[in-house]
Amino acid sequence: MQIVILPTADDVAAYGAELYIKQLTNKPDSVLGLATGSTPLALYRLLIQACQQQRLSFARAKTFNLDEYLGLAGDHPQSYRFFMQQHLFDAIDILPANTAVPDGNATDPFKACQQYEQQITDAGGIDLQLLGLGRNGHIGFNEPSSGLRSRTRVKTLTPATIADNARFFQPGEYQPHLSITMGIGTILDARKVLLLATGANKADAVQAMIEGPLTAACPASALQFHQQAIVVLDEDAAAKLA
Ligand code: F6R
Repeated sequence: MQIVILPTADDVAAYGAELYIKQLTNKPDSVLGLATGSTPLALYRLLIQACQQQRLSFARAKTFNLDEYLGLAGDHPQSYRFFMQQHLFDAIDILPANTAVPDGNATDPFKACQQYEQQITDAGGIDLQLLGLGRNGHIGFNEPSSGLRSRTRVKTLTPATIADNARFFQPGEYQPHLSITMGIGTILDARKVLLLATGANKADAVQAMIEGPLTAACPASALQFHQQAIVVLDEDAAAKLA
């Protein structure tokens, strides 16, 4: 695990963007793993800018998102498909057919999970997987106690994650308690992993991920196993590291 600590969240986004630009420059048909949430927003804005300035093209890239709420169709404003269209896909030159997000509206979610794994395999595997970090140490929706070799599956969200994500929903609006998520094993199969964490509210999870034991109690600690994992932190998120 390589740890990079930078002064601000903007620096973290810029560092991440350069890694994506380098990846696509070296391999224009890269398979990219993507995440939603607040953390990658600044990075996505920089990728859009780079695309507009023609420093970067997604024309030959394929993407796979980590997760999706089960029970929300892709046109639901709180779905992760909608998030990705709004914050990245609609503003870059990627082919819509080359963007994959788990289908939250699948009639057979269990089959959809297997198909998602197969799609990743058929694409040749993920070259660079982007991750955020949950305050409880989750990656994707792999909540504490997730199997360290788990594959894409239906996962129940913990009350802590439901509470953390309530900020995206209107008061009284239906908020799913189930998700489809890539497994920890799926994530570890990516050739490179880039985890970004910013802000003081991530400091405990960052410490557990890097300095704690490798344990299902902190799913992100599984990255200690990965040969090519880069963790990029701002100073607030890194504040509890020894
Ligand atoms: C999102 C995802 C989650 C988030 C994590 C951090 O696709 O898989 O693991 O990365 O919950 O979310 P933010 O960035 O909103 O703090």
